[in-house]
Amino acid sequence: MSFVWLKQYFPRGIYGRAALSLLLPVVVVQIVVSVIFVQRHFEEVTQQMSDTVIRELQMVLAVDEFERANFTGPLEINFTVVDSSTLSEPNTRLWYDFSGLIVVDYLKKHLPQIKVFDLYNNDIVRLIIDDPQGPIEIVFDRQRISATNPHQLLVNMVFFSILVTSFAYIYLRNQLRPIKRLARAATAFGRGRHMRFTPAGAAEMRAAGTAFVDMRARIERHIETRTLMLSGVSHDLRTPLTRMRLALTMLDDADRIPLEQDVIEMQQMIDAFLSFAAGESEGEPEKIDATELVRLLVKDAQRANLPVSFYMSEGTGTTLLRPIAMRRALDNLINNAVRYGNRAEVSITITNKFVRFRVEDDGPGIPEAQRSDAQQAFVRLDPARNQDKGSGVGLGLAITADIARAHGGTLRLSDSKRLGGLKADMIIGR
Ligand SMILES: Nc1ncnc2c1ncn2[C@@H]1O[C@H](COP(=O)(O)OP(=O)(O)OP(=O)(O)O)[C@@H](O)[C@H]1O
Ligand SMILES: [Mg+2]
Repeated sequence: MSFVWLKQYFPRGIYGRAALSLLLPVVVVQIVVSVIFVQRHFEEVTQQMSDTVIRELQMVLAVDEFERANFTGPLEINFTVVDSSTLSEPNTRLWYDFSGLIVVDYLKKHLPQIKVFDLYNNDIVRLIIDDPQGPIEIVFDRQRISATNPHQLLVNMVFFSILVTSFAYIYLRNQLRPIKRLARAATAFGRGRHMRFTPAGAAEMRAAGTAFVDMRARIERHIETRTLMLSGVSHDLRTPLTRMRLALTMLDDADRIPLEQDVIEMQQMIDAFLSFAAGESEGEPEKIDATELVRLLVKDAQRANLPVSFYMSEGTGTTLLRPIAMRRALDNLINNAVRYGNRAEVSITITNKFVRFRVEDDGPGIPEAQRSDAQQAFVRLDPARNQDKGSGVGLGLAITADIARAHGGTLRLSDSKRLGGLKADMIIGR
């Protein structure tokens, strides 16, 4: 038997689940025990009390009309002769008066001559008896026949359950706080932010926290070395390259032009390495108007005579973004679009949940099987497609994907239905 369908009814957070697994058994046991106890207890007590009253009533009904007056006082039972129309009154009872049900049942069994039970008033019992000497109305205190305040036990139980549960709730929340902090620190680290975090709480949580801190330190060291190495090498290569360019000016044109082209290409590659090394961590996140950013970017591209246009924008609002990194990411997408296609169209959609930057082109697109490869660093797709497309290092999409991840988002490649080429979506959560 599968219980998968049950899953949707369970709380999603660890907090709710822990509370559920602790509280559910306790609540169920309490309900079962109290129902059994209350039912037994009240049934037996009510029956015992009813027995006494039944015996008194039997005795009184056995004597004749005139002697009854002697009993009413000491027994605190009120007898009144009434006319026969009362015999056809309906039985009444308050809907929540469950012990009344037992009373009626029990009295009926032992005194079949009772015709009408009126328990509508909670304080008294009113019965109409069909006596051979004429109908009699009998009234006595309700207290004589059923236990008073039967709900007191339940009220106590509920009150103390709530009290104890709230203590448990507070305790549990404190126990789970370290997990939440760890999750926050890990999320922040995934987005390229270093958040202060000290392991705390129960032994297992402390262990997880310490493992996270160690891992984070190792990754940070790693990134640092990579950045240092890449930027060091690139930087050091610049000086000899500049020297070569200067030296080249001495040559005649036939030799100079192809060599100069090579040097320019090498310089472009070095720039790409440098920006890859700078990575996603460049600049501080700021609240910026993403639509404005895109408009500026498109304007800059148009000024550089690139066939780029702004297609449409939807929604408004500011978003926490690193503007420099964002610009670079979009620049890479736009450059690809105009390099592999003939024109690029940029659009932006802002909703409550995310910002989506979209760059579409009319080029050949990327086959589905190669889309994740294309996002790897230093990967360029088959050379045939890239002929005459100038030199690239294959870092553009890798950098863009990195930047999207650092903002807690993703880069998604698909087919552009509208233009027929590639559709690159960068989706960032807000
Ligand atoms: N808009 C596009 N249309 C078709 N193919 C694309 C498009 N964008 C990228 N590609 C393919 O994906 C590969 C990887 O792209 P990426 O931007 O990472 O590197 P690149 O453009 O070759 O070099 P770089 O951007 O570093 O100068 C490209 O070589 C190209 O084959
Ligand atoms: Mg590129």
